[in-house]
Amino acid sequence: MKFAALTLALASTALGQSLQEVLANNTQLSQLANLAGPFLNSLPTTGAITVLAPNNAAVGAFLSSPGANSTSQDVVSALLSYHVLQGNYTTIPNVSFIPTNLQPGAFAGVTGGQRVHAVPNNGSFSLFSGLLQNSTVNGSAIPFNNGVVHVLNQFLTIPQNITTTGVALNLTSAVGAIGQLGLGQTLAGQSDLTYFIPNNAAFERIGGNLANLSSADLTQILQYHVVAAGQPLYSTNLMNGSSVRSLQGGNLTARIVGSDVFINNARVLTANVLVANGVVHVIDRVLNPSNSTIVPNTATTAEAFPSATSASNVPFTSGVPTPTSTIATQSAPGPQGSQSSATSGGSSSSSGAAWQPAATGAMGMGALFGGAALVMNM
Ligand SMILES: *[C@@H]1O[C@H](CO)[C@@H](O)[C@H](O)[C@H]1NC(C)=O
Ligand SMILES: *[C@@H]1O[C@H](CO)[C@@H](O)[C@H](O)[C@H]1NC(C)=O
Ligand SMILES: *[C@@H]1O[C@H](CO)[C@@H](O)[C@H](O)[C@H]1NC(C)=O
Ligand SMILES: *[C@@H]1O[C@H](CO)[C@@H](O)[C@H](O)[C@H]1NC(C)=O
Ligand SMILES: *[C@@H]1O[C@H](CO)[C@@H](O)[C@H](O)[C@H]1NC(C)=O
Ligand SMILES: *[C@@H]1O[C@H](CO)[C@@H](O)[C@H](O)[C@H]1NC(C)=O
Ligand SMILES: *[C@@H]1O[C@H](CO)[C@@H](O)[C@H](O)[C@H]1NC(C)=O
Ligand SMILES: *[C@@H]1O[C@H](CO)[C@@H](O)[C@H](O)[C@H]1NC(C)=O
Ligand SMILES: *[C@@H]1O[C@H](CO)[C@@H](O)[C@H](O)[C@H]1NC(C)=O
Ligand SMILES: *[C@@H]1O[C@H](CO)[C@@H](O)[C@H](O)[C@H]1NC(C)=O
Ligand SMILES: *[C@@H]1O[C@H](CO)[C@@H](O)[C@H](O)[C@H]1NC(C)=O
Ligand SMILES: *[C@@H]1O[C@H](CO)[C@@H](O)[C@H](O)[C@H]1NC(C)=O
Repeated sequence: MKFAALTLALASTALGQSLQEVLANNTQLSQLANLAGPFLNSLPTTGAITVLAPNNAAVGAFLSSPGANSTSQDVVSALLSYHVLQGNYTTIPNVSFIPTNLQPGAFAGVTGGQRVHAVPNNGSFSLFSGLLQNSTVNGSAIPFNNGVVHVLNQFLTIPQNITTTGVALNLTSAVGAIGQLGLGQTLAGQSDLTYFIPNNAAFERIGGNLANLSSADLTQILQYHVVAAGQPLYSTNLMNGSSVRSLQGGNLTARIVGSDVFINNARVLTANVLVANGVVHVIDRVLNPSNSTIVPNTATTAEAFPSATSASNVPFTSGVPTPTSTIATQSAPGPQGSQSSATSGGSSSSSGAAWQPAATGAMGMGALFGGAALVMNM
């Protein structure tokens, strides 16, 4: 009897535990409890939440990184808000883009809260954040009185603006073009954008065609690569055969061919790179608003521009910072596990395959530190 009573008492304690108690009681989370005590005390209590809790190793690495001690309270607060998911997620069995408590403001322009990209991984899940940072959950959910806690091996990175993200991904031709045409501020001022960004090789192949275009024509072309659909279009929002209106006015069409995803004739190389005001999908062709009827032709290297002529160097890149290391984006992603379900019917929600993030290799913790330091300048 005594034993049974004791067990019951412990169980009810566990159910009623506050977040602070959970953190304080978990040997992996003591550093976070120290660092984030005041923040955690001020978390809203309406609606269940999921707290992504970086472990002691992650906090230690954060604190010893350059700039960590001069990180402003605003940035720390935004970073921690980004680690709180709206809703009670004990597991995440499907690729999903989950709203966080990082609400629109200085650090995000995504209605309903900046998203984190959850990818199931061997019964648990990984979380992709800004600059394709890959943080992985260790162990199962720990309940507290307003939801659950998951232990993370790395901090998430707050998604950065299109310029910073573009440079980190070595998309310097697109970044240069946006800068030369003065579109940076216009884009940064809008919420919920979807950017289809051609890589440097794509710009190089049609550099000759671009060379003689007026700024007005170039602006039309760039605006054809951006969609403002009221919400960012993540891979789970783009169905096979669906059309979306670009900022330029012309439509873009998404199609799925085998394990590849295409926007008009351009193949998606890397999907779902979260940015401050939406999402970037990296593509391998420059899209042409005068040729919106072009279809994917996987057998040829057809361009959407007639008589394509290449440039002798990568267009628009003078004055754009050269990335010291880049996120690996160029490898063609292959099907991954059970996520590669067919979507050719146009009704399924996720195609997997090209919709998975590329391996992030070189970024690791550097992304967070770069991110934290850069966020301070926003
Ligand atoms: C958690 O810590 C609190 C004190 O902070 C303690 O009262 C409680 O018994 C602990 N719970 C568990 C399950 O260890
Ligand atoms: C930040 O401050 C902590 C505690 O004072 C110290 O241990 C750490 O080395 C500092 N980090 C840097 C990068 O100076
Ligand atoms: C999640 O994936 C499972 C299979 O892994 C599938 O049965 C289920 O319908 C999916 N749920 C959603 C909401 O897509
Ligand atoms: C998957 O998880 C199981 C147990 O949860 C573990 O034994 C196995 O090593 C894991 N596989 C990989 C590839 O991490
Ligand atoms: C996962 O958690 C266990 C303790 O629960 C710890 O020993 C291990 O080092 C953690 N792994 C990583 C990669 O953080
Ligand atoms: C969170 O979900 C778990 C599993 O479904 C449930 O046991 C728990 O009561 C939920 N917590 C809250 C605060 O809703
Ligand atoms: C970035 O792209 C340029 C040209 O497309 C290439 O020459 C350079 O090696 C790339 N840099 C990195 C770090 O991958
Ligand atoms: C661009 O203009 C230059 C000189 O003005 C000309 O030599 C070249 O053929 C033009 N290129 C294209 C693709 O029209
Ligand atoms: C463009 O796409 C929208 C849906 O996003 C659709 O309503 C409209 O009819 C399309 N326009 C053309 C010309 O296909
Ligand atoms: C679109 O591009 C394709 C492939 O280069 C070409 O065959 C077609 O004629 C172009 N259509 C228009 C309207 O320019
Ligand atoms: C993310 O990191 C986890 C753990 O290190 C790893 O198992 C997984 O393959 C990574 N995902 C990608 C897409 O690189
Ligand atoms: C993007 O962010 C960087 C670093 O925070 C900043 O220097 C730059 O001005 C920002 N660009 C725009 C267009 O907001």
